[in-house]
Amino acid sequence: MNAPLAGRPRPVEERALDHPEIDRAFIGRLVREFYRRVRANHRLGPIFEGVIGRDWEPHLEKLTDFWSAVILKNGAYSGRPVPAHLKLKQVREEDFDIWLGIFRQTAADLCEPDVAKVFVQRAERIAQSLKLAMFFRLPMAQPRED
Ligand code: HEM
Repeated sequence: MNAPLAGRPRPVEERALDHPEIDRAFIGRLVREFYRRVRANHRLGPIFEGVIGRDWEPHLEKLTDFWSAVILKNGAYSGRPVPAHLKLKQVREEDFDIWLGIFRQTAADLCEPDVAKVFVQRAERIAQSLKLAMFFRLPMAQPRED
């Protein structure tokens, strides 16, 4: 029998955003504008160009599926973001602040405020879990001095 989860905080359930204008086509425009700005950024641009190279179309389509799954909960993406980022040894923790800054600005420019808030909250949550996977290390145990 499954023990009831009494006393534990419930995981926050994310719902599909139900908004007449937010469909895959809209998300595709947001993704394309976001990566246009990322590519123009002097720190992030070269990191992406080094991995993705000249043909951005597959990445943009994959990221449109990813954001459709995150926002519309339509199951469009079934990849594994953590291993894709773990192999990026040149990425530093502070790069996520740049990434999120560009994402926030793009969402603010293209979405109405309520919608931008949903995109940004979900981006922040995923960024946090990617950062934990990439950078979190328990401090090494120190030898006792006594
Ligand atoms: C500084 C921050 C970040 C950098 C430099 C970065 C860079 C990259 C690069 C270079 C790839 C391509 C990997 C490949 O094709 O082998 C990639 C893939 C991807 N990124 Fe990021 N990323 C960052 C943050 C994020 C965040 C915050 C999210 C989500 C909110 C995200 C979502 C994804 C997804 C879904 C993929 C595709 C993974 C797959 O192959 O299925 N990234 N990223």
